[in-house]
Amino acid sequence: MMDLPGISIVVVVVVSLIVNAAVLCNGGITSSFVRKVEKTVDMPLDSDVFRVPPGYNAPQQVHITQGDHEGKGVIISWVTPNEPGSKTVFYWSEKSKHKNHAEGKIVTYKFYNYTSGYIHHCTIKNLKFDTKYYYEVGIGHTPRQFWFRTPPRVGLDVPYTFGLIGDLGQSYDSNRTLTHYESNPARGQTVLFVGDLSYADNYSFHDNNRWDSWGRFLERNVAYQPWIWTAGNHEIDFAPEIGETIPFKPFRHRYHVPYKASGSTTPFWYSIKRASAYVIVLSSYSAYGKYTPQYKWLEKELPKVNRSETPWLIVLMHSPWYNSYNYHYKEGETMRVIYEPWFVKYKVDGVFAGHVHAYERSERVSNIAYNIVNGVCYPVNDQSAPVYITIGDGGNLEGLVTNMTEPQPQYSAYREASFGHAIFDIKNRTHAYYSWHRNQDGNALEADSLWFFNRY
Ligand SMILES: *[C@@H]1O[C@H](CO)[C@@H](O)[C@H](O)[C@H]1NC(C)=O
Ligand SMILES: *[C@@H]1O[C@H](CO)[C@@H](O)[C@H](O)[C@H]1NC(C)=O
Ligand SMILES: *[C@@H]1O[C@H](CO)[C@@H](O)[C@H](O)[C@H]1NC(C)=O
Ligand SMILES: *[C@@H]1O[C@H](CO)[C@@H](O)[C@H](O)[C@H]1NC(C)=O
Ligand SMILES: *[C@@H]1O[C@H](CO)[C@@H](O)[C@H](O)[C@H]1NC(C)=O
Ligand SMILES: *[C@@H]1O[C@H](CO)[C@@H](O)[C@H](O)[C@H]1NC(C)=O
Ligand SMILES: [Fe+2]
Repeated sequence: MMDLPGISIVVVVVVSLIVNAAVLCNGGITSSFVRKVEKTVDMPLDSDVFRVPPGYNAPQQVHITQGDHEGKGVIISWVTPNEPGSKTVFYWSEKSKHKNHAEGKIVTYKFYNYTSGYIHHCTIKNLKFDTKYYYEVGIGHTPRQFWFRTPPRVGLDVPYTFGLIGDLGQSYDSNRTLTHYESNPARGQTVLFVGDLSYADNYSFHDNNRWDSWGRFLERNVAYQPWIWTAGNHEIDFAPEIGETIPFKPFRHRYHVPYKASGSTTPFWYSIKRASAYVIVLSSYSAYGKYTPQYKWLEKELPKVNRSETPWLIVLMHSPWYNSYNYHYKEGETMRVIYEPWFVKYKVDGVFAGHVHAYERSERVSNIAYNIVNGVCYPVNDQSAPVYITIGDGGNLEGLVTNMTEPQPQYSAYREASFGHAIFDIKNRTHAYYSWHRNQDGNALEADSLWFFNRY
């Protein structure tokens, strides 16, 4: 049995004593952590986290992501509300007084009767590795300054710490998840976000003001460290009943990713290298069958990964392949059938998904022997297979999923319906430490953890 903390703790949210024990089923552990079942509600628009920064045309919703394939580029994005304003970004390294500048582009879009602000995207390139940079946007009216640190040069033994967050939304629980991530002493340097961002589509007419409020909520983190974006079903925003028939319209205008740098033809699937990790982002909601653009891209992409350079191969997608909750059950199955043999062949280390609003970690298993006639259709232990982790527990307004399939399948190592985030902490070419942190706990507590040993 796993070493779970047997202590009792008083939690503000739960306002009751929680005894943390574990129950063994056929498979792994189904946590018996008890929480008060309460509704997860969105923070009202006048909440502190949604405050509009003061000043005429002040840039808001500032966010950054990687801007090239190896970490020397950053895409800086922000929104100006009153007029387009300056497209310029000033940036300078900590050690230099010389201000560089780059010019971005502005996009706008309409969604039903909503008109967006002026959405700026500016890619700055050829930065120095492992360097702190300051940057300034809103030149001319209300300048605002932020900073980020570039990752170290790509290489075999380079330590790096990724945060893992999914299905975040903008509820009080979302705010708890983000706060918990920010205070985690493991200090995530970049967030791998597994899809479902704002949940604006939960509002009448997909009220896109909730995309704006989400952008303002997240700024306190994503203006300072890159978030790597994966598209989820709540990004589709397909609403023919109000004349909105182009999928992913708000997401695509607001969240730019460096897809061209990895030879991709759309922002929904792409890859980046960062330190000693190679991260492949896939789209559960774009065609992925044989002959499709995503299939062809992935088929060429996997052999390109040089594990002597980036020993850690991570895949992000929204809909999980191995999910033993009743919710969204088997939605990832067709993609699994098509791509799983590749993941085993190329020894993917970890596959991180969201969608199911709970937490689950699998054993290393594969289910690739079935050939229609042989009846061999069970997941089996396979040391070449990835560990599958569902981390859709960011805290959005739809609340937690608690209904699990019983008995727990063999492949399921640990599952629990609680909100939280995880950390993937790469130590060197052979070791990475993974931990999951539920929101009710203090920083020192890891509700689930695992050493990853690289098999390359
Ligand atoms: C958009 O339409 C809805 C429903 O008719 C209405 O409540 C809302 O005020 C409108 N918003 C704008 C910006 O016109
Ligand atoms: C969100 O969390 C931050 C940081 O803990 C806190 O300052 C803020 O008051 C919270 N806002 C809401 C609406 O819960
Ligand atoms: C928003 O989400 C809640 C909780 O899942 C659901 O009950 C409600 O119907 C949703 N509203 C819309 C307009 O989608
Ligand atoms: C893989 O990366 C290593 C380390 O950077 C390099 O020496 C080697 O040439 C690369 N292999 C290929 C096939 O590019
Ligand atoms: C859990 O899901 C199963 C299958 O969908 C359903 O039959 C069952 O009633 C659900 N249980 C609860 C407590 O909701
Ligand atoms: C890699 O990291 C692990 C865990 O910190 C450590 O035990 C191991 O000695 C390291 N290996 C090398 C070659 O430094
Ligand atoms: Fe989802």
